Amino acid sequence: MSDSRAGPVSVEPSRSPGDAGVLLRRATAGDIDALYAISLATGDRGGDAARLYRDPRMLGHIYAAPYLTLAPEDCLVAEDGDGVAGYIVGTRDSRDFEARLERDWWPALRRRYPPPEGEPQQWDADQRRCYMIHRPRCAPEEVVRGYPGHVHINLLPRLQGRRIGPALLNLWLSDAQARGCRAVHIATSATNPRALRFWTARGFVEVLQTSDHGSSGTIWCGRSFANRG
Ligand SMILES: CC(C)(COP(=O)(O)OP(=O)(O)OC[C@H]1O[C@@H](n2cnc3c(N)ncnc32)[C@H](O)[C@@H]1OP(=O)(O)O)[C@@H](O)C(=O)NCCC(=O)NCCS
Repeated sequence: MSDSRAGPVSVEPSRSPGDAGVLLRRATAGDIDALYAISLATGDRGGDAARLYRDPRMLGHIYAAPYLTLAPEDCLVAEDGDGVAGYIVGTRDSRDFEARLERDWWPALRRRYPPPEGEPQQWDADQRRCYMIHRPRCAPEEVVRGYPGHVHINLLPRLQGRRIGPALLNLWLSDAQARGCRAVHIATSATNPRALRFWTARGFVEVLQTSDHGSSGTIWCGRSFANRG
């Protein structure tokens, strides 16, 4: 499915006078490698996760690539003169997206990555992600009930702190709202305080905290379009 209603938008970051500018546009299939790279470079509580993974695509398999592959109309990227350096991906209906993943995304990865063996406490980062491929973490019902959509935003350090995140989020929310989405949620690591500050400053309220096996905890926040700022 494609939707050409939202054309490219140029954004001049407000904190970077003299900056050459950053283009916000819909993602295309050709952006897939950039999404994998950004996912890895920001995947350790917002910082670079490259040292943690043997397979550099493990994080992107879960948090970036399926969105671009299954729902490209819900993916935007931020591009500067050096290339794509940020994205927002998501879905207007998390439960429907989980079903699509189960049907069209996880099966090929499950064949490629066998389930991890041994004691979960001994698993490394690759094995923990591999487990997620076999046993995907579904969003809790109490989160999805009130906030059916969800998003992920990831910017390389060179775009961070320049209000690109809010610009991407506003574009995504406007588009999603126009297409019938009423509320969205995000999940952030309990050990990524900068991200949590970002979300709460953008009208997201904490809904739930969960503690997954081997993780330091996840904070789920939601925002209804009724309280868009
Ligand atoms: C979190 C993120 C989406 C915010 O987008 P952004 O465009 O950087 O947002 P802003 O420019 O509005 O900056 C948000 C705040 O973080 C601060 N900040 C941004 N980049 C920073 C950096 N590299 N170091 C320290 N502080 C930083 C800003 O000063 C700002 O604080 P303020 O609102 O008190 O002024 C983006 O920084 C990012 O992608 N980080 C890495 C990946 C990540 O953590 N994603 C979220 C996972 S839930």
